Amino acid sequence: MTQINENFLKLKAGYLFPEIGRRVSSFCTNHPEANVIRLGIGDVTEPLPAAVIQAMHAAVDEMGARETFQGYGPEQGYEFLRESIAKHDYQSRGIEISSDEIFVSDGSKCDTGNILDIFGGQNVVAITDPVYPVYVDTNVMAGHTGEVDSTGRYEGLVYLPVTAENNFVPEIPREKVDLVYLCYPNNPTGTVLSHADLKKWVDYARQNEAIILYDAAYEAYITEAGVPHSIYEIEGAEEVAVEFRSFSKNAGFTGVRCAMTVVPKSIQPMTADGERCDLHHLWNRRQTTKFNSVSYIVQRGAAAVYSPQGQQEVGKLVAFYLDNARLLREGLQAVDINVYGGVNAPYVWLRTPGGQTSWDFFDTLLEKSHLVGTPGSGFGASGEGYFRLSAFNSRENIQEAVARFQQLLG
Ligand SMILES: Cc1ncc(COP(=O)(O)O)c(C=O)c1O
Repeated sequence: MTQINENFLKLKAGYLFPEIGRRVSSFCTNHPEANVIRLGIGDVTEPLPAAVIQAMHAAVDEMGARETFQGYGPEQGYEFLRESIAKHDYQSRGIEISSDEIFVSDGSKCDTGNILDIFGGQNVVAITDPVYPVYVDTNVMAGHTGEVDSTGRYEGLVYLPVTAENNFVPEIPREKVDLVYLCYPNNPTGTVLSHADLKKWVDYARQNEAIILYDAAYEAYITEAGVPHSIYEIEGAEEVAVEFRSFSKNAGFTGVRCAMTVVPKSIQPMTADGERCDLHHLWNRRQTTKFNSVSYIVQRGAAAVYSPQGQQEVGKLVAFYLDNARLLREGLQAVDINVYGGVNAPYVWLRTPGGQTSWDFFDTLLEKSHLVGTPGSGFGASGEGYFRLSAFNSRENIQEAVARFQQLLG
């Protein structure tokens, strides 16, 4: 008899976004005239930068000529892209990450899930709460948890609440943890960690032989000084941290697909026999076995992000979304809503008015204002009473959404 991976059966039935989709489509069926504005899922809306398009066109032409045609590329990514990443994202900030510590991939979503292949099943795993759901679900799938409870928490995971009460800074847990997921700028709260706060985590990891999985998918949105752009800005992080970056949210690659994972060679975790082993080698082995990298055309497009033209265009895109976030923040603050995030991230996180539950506020907003956001409780038990708005939208829609919020809550 064929057995299945029964860990999948432990996953919560109503995943957040399908449930939102179900409620929105039922509303639209009953109110076909309603102009529903979606500020829910964090997908970009603006077209790709011209520099990227030009580079991809040129790469398509290269693929059409025998002399320049490319077949399988290196599993780790083409050197032209890895070098650009190392130089622009790390070395220019004084961080010593070399191109061969960078692995190009088709997305941070896959990488943050796939990375569990190279870790053992006995690790105690810590996640912030609320959290990007992929970290939780991939640990459930890998059998690292027990069952889910009525609040949506899985037995065996260590939850680190991040709420207004602790200024959205996760506290170091009392119990010893082995793997810690940190995402900054944060999805869903839009908040950031200071250099000092991140240093506490790096120090913890060094003292406890833990590893930090640091998701910096929203790094491009950092506007304030003193906010680390990379975990490797913290001394010693190259011994304890893997960093994930993506072209999705800066250059609009959500549909094109390109990202990168940095696995420094100095991460040397211990085997059960007490031998040191090289995490970089394990990830390289995993990738060369299970992955054939990203298309040449896409990697040429990604490399164009680092050209002077690309940098300028990406800067404009990010500034556009950040301006949307500012309009949302200011518009909500004007009607006395407590808002967080939105300064160094494309997400605005708000306290639901009048102490409503996240889902009650979702329903009110949809029914009365024809607006869609994401209930905070969908990201974890500590997200209850909060709500996420995404700044990825047209200016027109954001302005209209602000006007509707003010009419509803003013
Ligand atoms: C925190 C975080 N990490 C990773 C991703 C996915 O990135 P990618 O498009 O590179 O798979 C997202 C997408 O929403 C995200 O919010």
